[in-house]
Amino acid sequence: MLLGNKVAVVTGGGSGIGATICKELAFEGAQVAVTDVNIEAAERVVEEIEEHKGIAQAWKLNVSSKENTKQVAQEIKELYGSIDIWVNNAGVSKITPFLEHDEELLDLTLDVNLKGTFFGSQEAIKQMLPKKSGVIINMASQSGKVGTSNYQAYCASKFGVIGLTQSISVEFANQGIRANSICPGVVYTPMWEQQTIDYGKKRDMNPDKVMDYMRSKIPAGRLGEKKDIARTVVFLASDDASYITGQSINLTGGTVMH
Ligand SMILES: NC(=O)c1ccc[n+]([C@@H]2O[C@H](COP(=O)([O-])OP(=O)(O)OC[C@H]3O[C@@H](n4cnc5c(N)ncnc54)[C@H](O)[C@@H]3O)[C@@H](O)[C@H]2O)c1
Repeated sequence: MLLGNKVAVVTGGGSGIGATICKELAFEGAQVAVTDVNIEAAERVVEEIEEHKGIAQAWKLNVSSKENTKQVAQEIKELYGSIDIWVNNAGVSKITPFLEHDEELLDLTLDVNLKGTFFGSQEAIKQMLPKKSGVIINMASQSGKVGTSNYQAYCASKFGVIGLTQSISVEFANQGIRANSICPGVVYTPMWEQQTIDYGKKRDMNPDKVMDYMRSKIPAGRLGEKKDIARTVVFLASDDASYITGQSINLTGGTVMH
């Protein structure tokens, strides 16, 4: 197992990509703190991990609250003794025309996707610095590399996540701490349930056709799988990736190459 004796924290671990990341980390031997604003969802993921003899515990955590993040990080440290891996995965997303972006949507998107990653990284680094070892993995997106219409708040937040990650990686590279971001393309998760409708409106397309359209634009000819993302997280978290820091890794089936 690649991550035996490691302690991992995942935000937004109750659903979609985050839930699969929690499971893959646990199956590689990590003890996993499954955190989510939706505690029932986090608890269901923990049950699944335990059914497979993995070790996990659920926490309610709203990543947009600095206080809540600090408190949960402290509790996790008290339970497990340290934090080795912190995955800032929680995210929100809304497709809507630029002029219909209101301040509430902008605040929510930046608070969860960018400020949440900022606060999570600070708490992780505070715990990693004394032992001069740790890995931070931030969920960006292909929308952190290329702007798309009707997606300004989300793109701004994800471009921000990449810049934040690079800046952290430079500051702590000589202190045993690595930070990388991952940029998935389209992965069908609960996030896309509303988005297929909103994307359909943008392109004047039947929502049922949206995923086929997305697939047709991907050189690899398929959507991303949650496991594609989770296995990359496992690799980046492991010592096999010990010389990789400051990177933003595209998992887009060839759609984005920079
Ligand atoms: N699905 C995709 O196509 C795709 C592509 C690129 C990047 N991403 C990114 O991957 C991450 C996971 O997305 P997903 O598709 O699994 O979405 P999802 O909606 O299935 O899961 C998101 C999770 O985040 C949690 N969450 C939302 N607000 C939160 C908050 N304030 N505090 C804590 N948790 C909160 C939700 O409860 C949910 O469990 C996000 O950062 C998303 O932007 C997704």
